[in-house]
Amino acid sequence: MFWLTITALAAEPLLDHMDGHFAAATDTMSDVSTGEFERARMEVSRLDHEPPDALGEELHAYVAGVRSAARAVAASPNMQEIADAVGQLGTACAACHKAAGGGARRAPRFDRDISEYSEQRRHMWTLNWLWYGLVVPDDGAWEAGANLAALPPARYRRAGAQRLVRAYETAARDAGEAKTDAERASTFGAILATCAACHEATGVSLSP
Ligand code: HEC
Ligand code: HEC
Repeated sequence: MFWLTITALAAEPLLDHMDGHFAAATDTMSDVSTGEFERARMEVSRLDHEPPDALGEELHAYVAGVRSAARAVAASPNMQEIADAVGQLGTACAACHKAAGGGARRAPRFDRDISEYSEQRRHMWTLNWLWYGLVVPDDGAWEAGANLAALPPARYRRAGAQRLVRAYETAARDAGEAKTDAERASTFGAILATCAACHEATGVSLSP
């Protein structure tokens, strides 16, 4: 029964479908990091749909989990709530991957040398690794993100930024200690909120 399900699931259309999910969910989380909440709310609605035909009945409950997490993101009224809701969305994806014994099969690469990257490019990688670790779920990716998060941040001189740097450092420390999916979801939300809060406070616009 189990392998039958997996065989059906491994069909290419489902993988394409999942790539679409990954793109929609990742765009949502990245819009939140840059403070574009309205775009995030629109983006996330792409995840609120009926289960694809290729998906076994026994996994339909997990689709419901993702849909309600997506609606919670769309309904979040402020920065902290939308960031937390994105963390919950990530674990809703992970719950099905665990149940299906599947998940993202493309192996992540951890050998990239990012030591020359600017601080903000490092931040972007931090967030991407943590996100990947949350959604797949993948301990190695999460730990890579947590290690990056632990690198000392630069000192922003503008008023208010020091407090935001400290908030980031606290959330980054928690990432190193978060072991369960639930802990990781809430730590992810906390980090994501610090990205958004600091970009708002320092007047950074990351729109293309
Ligand atoms: C109802 C179950 C279910 C839900 C919900 C679900 N997935 Fe998947 N996902 C799967 C299965 C099954 C696979 C395929 C595993 C395989 O064949 O290796 C998969 C594979 C993937 C892949 C790998 C695709 C590839 O080409 O290797 C990604 C990325 C992915 N899912 C992202 C997500 C994201 C993001 C969400 C949440 C928005 C999500 N999934 C929600 C079941 C689910
Ligand atoms: C303490 C403040 C602060 C925090 C926290 C912060 N940023 Fe930034 N970010 C900035 C500032 C200021 C800039 C403008 C460019 C610069 O000064 O480096 C910026 C720019 C960026 C850029 C554009 C970089 C480029 O090369 O154009 C990205 C991407 C970015 N941040 C991602 C993130 C992510 C992801 C997080 C959270 C993990 C984050 N930042 C957390 C202050 C912050």
